[in-house]
Amino acid sequence: MQKDKIKDAYHDSKSFYDRVLTQDNILSKAYMKLFWGGTDDVAIAHQMLSYIPEGFSGTILDVPCGTLVFTSTQWKRLNNAKIFCLDYSEDMLRQAQKRIEGYDHITLQQGDVGALPYEAQSIDLVMSMNGFHAFPDKIKAFDETCRVLKKGGKFIFSFYVRGKLRRADWLVSHILAPKGWFTAPFQTEEEVRQILTEKYTKVEIHTDNAMIWGVCEK
Ligand SMILES: C[S@@+](CC[C@H](N)C(=O)[O-])C[C@H]1O[C@@H](n2cnc3c(N)ncnc32)[C@H](O)[C@@H]1O
Repeated sequence: MQKDKIKDAYHDSKSFYDRVLTQDNILSKAYMKLFWGGTDDVAIAHQMLSYIPEGFSGTILDVPCGTLVFTSTQWKRLNNAKIFCLDYSEDMLRQAQKRIEGYDHITLQQGDVGALPYEAQSIDLVMSMNGFHAFPDKIKAFDETCRVLKKGGKFIFSFYVRGKLRRADWLVSHILAPKGWFTAPFQTEEEVRQILTEKYTKVEIHTDNAMIWGVCEK
């Protein structure tokens, strides 16, 4: 039921999703300024991708991959890596497919972050951009992304946390969650810190208004 709502939400937004997130017009810039305090998703995405060494040749899981709007360029360049891109929405995956046609080292998969179809300790790096605020079961998602990582593997993340910016909290509870783009319950920065420090040996966390992002080592 909740999962159908998420699928429907991303079915409806697949055509304007990229433009909003990348702030490529005046309306999306105004939206980000008004509700998100001017947080720049593109800059955060660049920072997150900068944690991956040049020529990285391990196994990467991008979850949720969405339309690959922020990651496809980097994934195409890393042609010695094996990259799995998983998302719950077939509509988002269809948009993603257009971006990576002909790149055999990248595999798209429909699935649930709460039940990842990978062996324990089989992945070198998990990239989770703008994901956890959309996941219905966040604890399972933290457990699963950690389970599939090898010891020493990296978990790179960004998502919305509640309690940092009132306008963002209002938008999330009155519009984004009812529509199905975001899914409660939402965590605070302190709750996220606690979960990550329990699971990972090294934890680096940054915040920008209502967004939290960073990198952890297992
Ligand atoms: C805000 S988008 C982020 C996509 C991409 N990482 C980006 O930054 O553009 C959130 C995505 O989470 C996906 N999603 C929601 N629940 C999921 C679940 N349980 N398992 C996997 N993906 C899920 C949605 O289908 C949607 O594509």
